[in-house]
Amino acid sequence: MTPPVTLDLWIERQQQALGTFLAQQLPAPAQSPQDLHQAMRYATLGGGKRLRALLTLACAELLDMPREPSLRAAGSLELIHAYSLIHDDLPCMDNDALRRGQPTCHIRFGEATALLAGDALQSLAFQWLTDSCAPGHEARHLAQVRLLAIASGSRGMAGGQALDLASHRTSLSLDELEAMHLKKTGALIRAAVLLGTLCGTTDIAPSIIHDLTHFANRLGLLYQIVDDILDVTSDSATLGKTAGKDDAHNKATYVTLLGLGAARDKAAEVLDETLVALARVPGNTEYLRGLTQRISARHH
Ligand code: IPE
Ligand code: IPE
Ligand code: MG
Ligand code: MG
Ligand code: MG
Repeated sequence: MTPPVTLDLWIERQQQALGTFLAQQLPAPAQSPQDLHQAMRYATLGGGKRLRALLTLACAELLDMPREPSLRAAGSLELIHAYSLIHDDLPCMDNDALRRGQPTCHIRFGEATALLAGDALQSLAFQWLTDSCAPGHEARHLAQVRLLAIASGSRGMAGGQALDLASHRTSLSLDELEAMHLKKTGALIRAAVLLGTLCGTTDIAPSIIHDLTHFANRLGLLYQIVDDILDVTSDSATLGKTAGKDDAHNKATYVTLLGLGAARDKAAEVLDETLVALARVPGNTEYLRGLTQRISARHH
C-alpha cells in the first residue's frame, strides 16, 4: 500500500499527473485544424487549480478505484470545465478579456474558434469517458456519460448559466440564488465527486452515494459563494481574471444580495455544513476535507 502523503504533496502529484495526461491526450497542436486544436489546448493546459479533477481523484482514492479510469474521468471533468469557461468569457456572456492570467480564448483565437473549441472540448470529454471501455464494463461507462451529460446540460451547468445571464434583469430571492449557484457551479462539482464512485467495478453502497452527494452539493455552493466574495475583495492580478465584474454587470451574487459581511457569514455557515456532511462519509476522507478547507480559504 502507498503510504499516505501530506495534502500539499498529494495535490502536487495529482496536478502533475493530470497535466501530463491532458497534454498527451488532447489533439496535437500541429494536427489540422491547427487553430482549433491550439485553442483547445490553450484553454485546458494554461493553468487552473484543477479542483474538479482533484475532487474526482480524491473520491476515487477514498473508494479504492483503479488509477487509469480515475485519471480519465478527472480529465473529462477538466475538459467540460475548460469549455464552460471559454463560453462564459465570450462577449455574449460575461465578455471577459482575462482568464488564468492570460488573454481569454476568444481574445487570443477569435470568437468563432473559441466557440468551436468549447464545443469540441465538450464532445471530447464524452469520448474520453468511453475510450477505454472494455467488454463487460459498458454499464459503468454509460453511467459516467449520463452523469456528466446531466450535470453539464440545461438542468445543470448550462441551465445555471442561463439563470445567471437572466439574473441582471430581475432581483432574485436567496432561494433562487442558491438554486442558480447549485446549477451553474454546483452541478459540475457534484459530478466530479460522483464520477469518482464510478471508476471501478466496486458497487458503492447507496448510503455512501447519498452522503457524498450531500457533501458535494454544499461544496459546490461554497465554491461559488467564495467566487462571489473574491470578485469584490481581490484584484485582477491575484485572481488571474477581471475583478469587480459581477457588480459592473449587475449579476445576482451573495455579495450583491446580502452585502459582503453577510456573504462571508454565509460562506462560514456553508463550510460547516460541508464538513458535517463529509463527516458522515466512511473511510479516510482526509484529502476531501483538506480540499474543502482550501476552497473556503482560497485567494484565487
Ligand atoms: C471558475 O472556476 C469558474 C467558477 C465556477 C467560479 P475555477 O475557480 O475552478 O477556475 P480555474 O480552473 O481554477 O481557473
Ligand atoms: C462561471 O461563473 C460558471 C461557469 C463557467 C459554469 P462566473 O462567471 O462567476 O465565473 P468567473 O468569475 O468568470 O470565473
Ligand atoms: Mg459567468
Ligand atoms: Mg464569468
Ligand atoms: Mg465569478
